[in-house]
Amino acid sequence: MLFQKINISIIGTGYVGLPTALGFSKLGHNVTCIDNNNIKIQELKNGIIPIYEKGINTLFFKEYKKITFTTSIKDGISNADIIIIAVGTPTNKKTNEADLSYLFNAVNEIKIYLNKRTKLIVTKSTVPVKTGDKIEKIINNSNIDIISMPEFLREGFALEDFFNPDRIVIGANNKRYLYLIKKLYRKIKRPIIYTDRTSAELIKYTANAFLAIKINYINEIADLCENINANIDDVAKGIGADSRIGNKFLKAGIGYGGSCFPKDTQAMATFGNKYNVNLTLVKDAIINNKKRQKNIANKIYNIISQINEKQINVGILGLAFKNNTDDCRESPSINIIKSLLKHKNINIIAHDYKAINTAKQILNNKISYSNNIEDVINNADIICILTEWEEYKKIDFSLLYPRHKIIFDGKNLLDKNKLKGYQYYCIGKRG
Ligand code: NAD
Ligand code: UGA
Repeated sequence: MLFQKINISIIGTGYVGLPTALGFSKLGHNVTCIDNNNIKIQELKNGIIPIYEKGINTLFFKEYKKITFTTSIKDGISNADIIIIAVGTPTNKKTNEADLSYLFNAVNEIKIYLNKRTKLIVTKSTVPVKTGDKIEKIINNSNIDIISMPEFLREGFALEDFFNPDRIVIGANNKRYLYLIKKLYRKIKRPIIYTDRTSAELIKYTANAFLAIKINYINEIADLCENINANIDDVAKGIGADSRIGNKFLKAGIGYGGSCFPKDTQAMATFGNKYNVNLTLVKDAIINNKKRQKNIANKIYNIISQINEKQINVGILGLAFKNNTDDCRESPSINIIKSLLKHKNINIIAHDYKAINTAKQILNNKISYSNNIEDVINNADIICILTEWEEYKKIDFSLLYPRHKIIFDGKNLLDKNKLKGYQYYCIGKRG
């Protein structure tokens, strides 16, 4: 069968939209990226990548000249077979619902400029159940289908996940144009799950909340391990070997963060209430995850209290909410830093491989930043690892000389046998 190129227009060129655009371009389709952030679009046109994502450079420089970048929905969708919406859906702080204003702004504009070529509008943004119904009402065009195709990529692994997803979920109430989606993904030989639109919307939230609950559970067990002198890494290994449980998402730590788990669990709990279901597990995960970050800050402060110095220098390794990204949205590291800064006797100097600039947008000059790990460590009274960058595992602490050799490893990254002479604190096991 001859390969048929599909014209795709993606609205929203962020952590989802950009990797998705590069992926579809690599698969041979014609891609247009639309974003109302003019600076971002100018950067992209000029070959500057506005986000950090592992492996993005190579693919970007291969593909970006084939992609059209524009700020205009009118121009951007003029030739589209499929329009993909990938704008943000953050928490509305007043209502605790997902803020759909970005999405509906885009939809209302799409409606004005839609033409006969377009067959499908695909929601990739994570949206509460029944949002597809609302989009359909606004678009009000019987020639076009609104489908839900939730995105499951992980930041830091976005390209890997694009080309090799566990599954592709297609939520469509009408199947007449699904042949276009099949063509779009023809080269990706992965399972496709077809369902109705509302179920697809729910699959996304149920998956994220399940993972958040799983992390929350292992973190609670880690606390128990600390009180009974057991080892959380062994417990996780022991339960993870059971294929019904699975060995992923069992790393105990400082709580989950990021632009998705916190906001999606919140939105889900809220729409659960709206539909008269009290999602208690989800609600507990939200509360416990916030508490955990406060407790970790207190734990660090208790360790610090042993140090006999007027001013304490805290060296933070890791600002991003996880490794391989520059994203600091809802980063536990940032939340812990904010709690520590409430103590007047604390100065913080922080390192991250990619997230210093994004962290600065949140913390400004409340802390100092350094690209030099050795500097951070040698000037610290206590060193706190708060992001799981693999590279931190390779630090040879025996060659470094901090004033009070104390490490708090919030991600259980280090091997305590290589830390002779250090006081080592970690999560859910003896340091
Ligand atoms: P993002 O903030 O990085 O990107 C969103 C982009 O949309 C921004 O560049 C913004 O300028 C643009 N935008 C907003 N309104 C617009 C409009 N009306 N017209 C054109 N552009 C507009 O967000 P993200 O992290 O890429 O997330 C996008 C969606 O995908 C969210 O719903 C999120 O929950 C979901 N999601 C994210 C991830 C992830 O790993 N980040 C994974 C799966 C799903
Ligand atoms: C998560 C999901 O994994 C993706 O499938 C989903 O598409 C995405 O949310 C989304 O909807 O945006 P992401 O937030 O990029 O992806 O990162 P994860 O790898 O899931 O990590 C989230 C948080 O959990 C991080 O703070 C990480 O440190 C923490 N985590 C993860 C743990 O504490 N322990 C673990 O075992 C795994």
